[in-house]
Amino acid sequence: MSTTGPARPNTRKLLIRTWGCQMNVYDSGRMADILAPLGYAPTESAEEADMVILNTCHIREKASEKVFSDLGRLRETKKARAAEGRETVIAVAGCVAQAEGAEITARAPWVDIVLGPQTYHRLPEMVARASRAAGAVIETDFPAEDKFDHLPEARGPQGPVAFLTIQEGCDKFCSFCVVPYTRGAEFSRPAAAILAEARQLAANGAREIALLGQNVNAWAGASPDGNSWRLARLLRELAEIPGVARLRYTTSHPRDMDDDLIAAHGEIPALMPYLHLPVQSGSDRVLAAMNRGHKADLYLRLADRLREVRPDIALTSDFIVGHPGETAKDFEDTMRLVEQVGFAGAYSFKYSARPGTPAAAQPGAVAEAEKDTRLQALQALLRQQQDDFNRACVGRVVDVLITGTGRHPGQVAGRSPWLQPVHAPLAHGGAAPVGAVVPMQLRATHPNSLSATMVLPEESAAA
Ligand code: SAH
Ligand code: SF4
Ligand code: F3S
Repeated sequence: MSTTGPARPNTRKLLIRTWGCQMNVYDSGRMADILAPLGYAPTESAEEADMVILNTCHIREKASEKVFSDLGRLRETKKARAAEGRETVIAVAGCVAQAEGAEITARAPWVDIVLGPQTYHRLPEMVARASRAAGAVIETDFPAEDKFDHLPEARGPQGPVAFLTIQEGCDKFCSFCVVPYTRGAEFSRPAAAILAEARQLAANGAREIALLGQNVNAWAGASPDGNSWRLARLLRELAEIPGVARLRYTTSHPRDMDDDLIAAHGEIPALMPYLHLPVQSGSDRVLAAMNRGHKADLYLRLADRLREVRPDIALTSDFIVGHPGETAKDFEDTMRLVEQVGFAGAYSFKYSARPGTPAAAQPGAVAEAEKDTRLQALQALLRQQQDDFNRACVGRVVDVLITGTGRHPGQVAGRSPWLQPVHAPLAHGGAAPVGAVVPMQLRATHPNSLSATMVLPEESAAA
C-alpha cells in the first residue's frame, strides 16, 4: 500500500506527544499505525490537529505534572478550534492514564479519551465513541496479550533504527517504582511474532533493531520449536535476519543477566558492545530497602564478566540518590561503585516519592537540599567518566550507521557502536546513503557528539 498517494479530502491530522521511556516511543508509533487507516496523518502543530494524544510517563512527579500543564494549553486550542467549527479529540495515554484514570477527566473535563498502555488496539473504537460525544471514554484494562494480538501487522517505513517491544510489564516491585502498577505483570511476546515483526522492519529498511522491555532480559517466550527461549537465543535468531546489522536491548535488570546472555555478548557480532544496566545504588543497605534483590557485588561481577567476553563493551546505568533511609555513607558506596565500574554514560535522578509505592511510606526521608548535593556530586563524576570514555575513542576507526544528514550542508550523521552521535563531512568519492554502515575515523569530541572522517575503501584496503 502506498503512503504517498493523493491526499484524501477527509484527511484528519494527528498530533502525538511522547514522554517517558522508549516503550512509549514504540507505542506512539503503533498508535499512529492504527489510526492511519482512519485517515489520520501526522502533524506537529496542535492548532492543526483534529486529534491530540499525550503519551505520558508517571515515573517521577515532574514527569506526571507536565501532562497537566500541557492539557491546560490544549484546552485553549480546543476552544479556539471549536469557535471555527472544528472538533478536537484529546486523548491521554500511557502511564499517567493508567495510574490516574478517571481523575484525569475530573481535573481536565475537556479530555475525551483516557487509555492505558494495554488498550491501544481499541483506539479506533474509542475515537468513534468519543465523537458520538457520550462523555469521556476511559479504558485502562490489562493484559498485554490482547494488545499485541490486535495491533496491525504492517509497519510503515521506519528509517534505519527501529524499536521492537518484546516484553512488557514488571514483577520486580522495586520500592520506589510505579511501573509494576502502570504496566502490569511481566509478559513476553512469543518468539514467532517478534521474528515476524523484525523481518518486516528489516524489509522496510531497518538496519539496527533495539529490543524493548521494562525488564527486557527477563524475556522468556514461547518459541517455534515448542520450547521456551531466553533472550540470548532470540538474539541469535534475530542476528540471522538478512539486513539486520545491529542489535541492542534495553532495559535490563542485573538479576536477569544469565550466563548465556553474557556469553552472547562475546559471540554475536551484530550485538553492539553496549549495555544499559541500571544499578540504582552502590549500597547494599539501600539496595535491600529498594527491593532490588541483589547486592553491589553482583553488579561488579557482572561488569567484569561482560568485559571478559567483550572488552570494549560500554556500560551505562541509572541511579537514584536520596531514597528513604540513604545515609551519607550509603551515598559514598554509590560513588565508590561508579569509580570501580567506570561508566560510558548514565542517568541519575533525585528520589521522587510516588503515591502507592512502598518507598513513599518508608521512614528516613532525605532532605531536598541533601539530595541536590548528592546528585551534583554523582553527576560530576558520571560526566567525567563519559568524557573520558568519549575521548578514549578519538583516533579509532569504527563502524558508523548512517541515520541521516548532519546539521551542516555536506555532512552525514550517524551513530557509533556505543550509541554516540557521530557526524562527518561526506568525503569526495565516498558514498554514505542512509542505512549504510561505513568505517569512520573518530577525530574529536564535542558536547553531544563526535566528529569523524569517512575512511574510503582504498584507505581501509591500504591500512
Ligand atoms: N526497568 C528499568 C527502569 C525503569 S524506570 C529498571 O529496572 O531499571 C527508569 C529509571 O527511572 C529507573 O531506573 C530509576 O533510576 C528511575 N526511577 C524510577 N522510579 C523513580 C522514582 N520514584 N524516583 C526517582 N527515580 C526513579
Ligand atoms: Fe521499576 Fe524495578 Fe521493575 Fe525496573 S525492575 S521497572 S525499577 S520495579
Ligand atoms: Fe514512564 Fe511508564 Fe515508561 S512510567 S518510564 S512511560 S513505563
